[in-house]
Amino acid sequence: MKLAIIVATTRVGRKTLQQAKWAAKLAANVDGIDAEIVDLADYPMPFFDEPVSPRYNPSRQIDSVAKKWLDKLNEFDAYLFVTAEYNHSIPAVLKNALDYVDFQFIHKPGAVISHGSAGGARAQVHLKQILSESKMAVVPSGPGVAIVHMSDIIDEEGNMSAEAAANPYGPKPAVEDLLNDLKWYSDALAAARK
Ligand SMILES: Cc1cc2nc3c(=O)[nH]c(=O)nc-3n(C[C@H](O)[C@H](O)[C@H](O)COP(=O)(O)O)c2cc1C
Repeated sequence: MKLAIIVATTRVGRKTLQQAKWAAKLAANVDGIDAEIVDLADYPMPFFDEPVSPRYNPSRQIDSVAKKWLDKLNEFDAYLFVTAEYNHSIPAVLKNALDYVDFQFIHKPGAVISHGSAGGARAQVHLKQILSESKMAVVPSGPGVAIVHMSDIIDEEGNMSAEAAANPYGPKPAVEDLLNDLKWYSDALAAARK
């Protein structure tokens, strides 16, 4: 399974990248997952302003950077979004990038992890609704992985403190569980798509 780990913020000094690096390290330990970080900072696309909704526009003309973003998404079987919460929702840069999506996510699994002062829980709820609209199969994830004060336990290289990692009810086993679920759904859906 090729897994995109999508970094959903781009601001100078952002912390979401370190949570994504941490998730990538955990993904590297799961058999059958080939994970790659896809950083929205590498796709500085303009605000979406196409005349027709992308899925309903057979003669679509698309911005060149947005096209690269969609081509990148096409490479993957599954998606893990790593997001912060901005003003009770997802960062605008992620919403804009998702507005460009047409058929990339259809019948493929996706999951969300987050962080923020309130763990990013409200952003997760919004993001899962948005992803459903693009026909992604959003993996059910119970309470979800929403980390409060994430940078207290995960450093800039994506290493989690030993104490946090040892917590049997903490984010590490929860993300491992989520990654295994993504693999399960990806295998099932890939077979069904054939
Ligand atoms: C514009 C902005 C709005 C924010 N709004 C919220 C919020 O509504 N709820 C919350 O829990 N944290 C909020 N925060 C705190 C962020 O979740 C926290 O700063 C996080 O590190 C942002 O991710 P980033 O560092 O990758 O940009 C906000 C931060 C910014 C910059």
